[in-house]
Amino acid sequence: MSDRFSFTLNAADGRARSGVIRTPRGEIRTPAFMPVGTAATVKAMLPESVRATGADILLGNTYHLMLRPGAERIARLGGLHRFMNWDRPILTDSGGFQVMSLGPLRKLTEDGVTFASHIDGSKHHLTPERSMQIQRLLGSDIVMAFDECPALPATEDEVARSMRLSMRWAQRSRDAFGERPGHALFGIMQGGVTRDLREESARSLTGIGFDGYAIGGLAVGEGQEAMFGVLDYAPGFLPSDKPRYLMGVGKPDDIVGAVVRGIDMMDCVLPSRSGRTGQAWTRHGQVNIKNARHQDDPRPLDEACGCPACRSYSRAYLHHVFRAGEMISGMLLTWHNLHYYQDLMAGLRAAIDEGRLDDFVRDFHALRAAGDI
Ligand code: GUN
Ligand code: ZN
Repeated sequence: MSDRFSFTLNAADGRARSGVIRTPRGEIRTPAFMPVGTAATVKAMLPESVRATGADILLGNTYHLMLRPGAERIARLGGLHRFMNWDRPILTDSGGFQVMSLGPLRKLTEDGVTFASHIDGSKHHLTPERSMQIQRLLGSDIVMAFDECPALPATEDEVARSMRLSMRWAQRSRDAFGERPGHALFGIMQGGVTRDLREESARSLTGIGFDGYAIGGLAVGEGQEAMFGVLDYAPGFLPSDKPRYLMGVGKPDDIVGAVVRGIDMMDCVLPSRSGRTGQAWTRHGQVNIKNARHQDDPRPLDEACGCPACRSYSRAYLHHVFRAGEMISGMLLTWHNLHYYQDLMAGLRAAIDEGRLDDFVRDFHALRAAGDI
């Protein structure tokens, strides 16, 4: 295993690419889906179970971990990998986006963001420099630049001003990160749904130079059509020899549409979160296990799925344990959802490698159109 960070492309099909990111902690097959482990756990899952679904990398959050249990404490305990018992790659988000969702609890200046903790109201200050320091204390393999994402609705002027602030913060993130062999720093493109702003942002980031490039500021309520509109051009503004990461996306059909448009990495809470609210994602679309139609159904959620929930339990059982409020409900449905997402990524990678992505996408939509039976 090399002690450096690298990205190799294997194949391309249209604008879609398959490849592998190499890090000292292991390989990440792309296109990759990263399960979200916000509070140093993928909720309801053991790390070895997350790995068994096919995940190569997890996402962690600067914002949540700095507040609880604290980055310095995690560092004293040997870093995030050891703390949460996941020895493979971890990408950490930088905190700015999570602070934004606090709304009136935050104050933005050129220096950074001051905010009140959603846990105990205590006051904190986050800057590009402090975000880099926290992500280093955590031991993150892929560090995200500190950025700001304007809350919608925002005028084009507000989006432009916010993007330019994020670009100045990107330079400060780069300077503060320094040289760390084996660790990567990704810049984050902003600019809303305005093509010129996206292009300007990409030019700023590539001028600074990063190990990978994220597309931020999407999946914030603009809708799939507008998001795909941006993805029709934005990846083309980025260097093709570096990974492209679409942040916070998405539903299975968002993922397929993003991969077709040249995205290599994604993350989303959806498969894990919806697993805890009785929503399953299958090849046939969304299945609401709460629905009474499942209560006498001896069939698995998806007969073609190899996950423990589908191999050993009926829809009737999954319906029952959800209704009874049993913890195994969230465990089984999360496992299934993460397994389905990773199966989807494996299917996309194989289709790209074999030059049959169009057929794969057609079959994907056809199966969903037929619905859950
Ligand atoms: N997660 C989803 N969107 C974003 C974004 O624009 N910036 C950051 N830092 N994280 C995100
Ligand atoms: Zn399953």
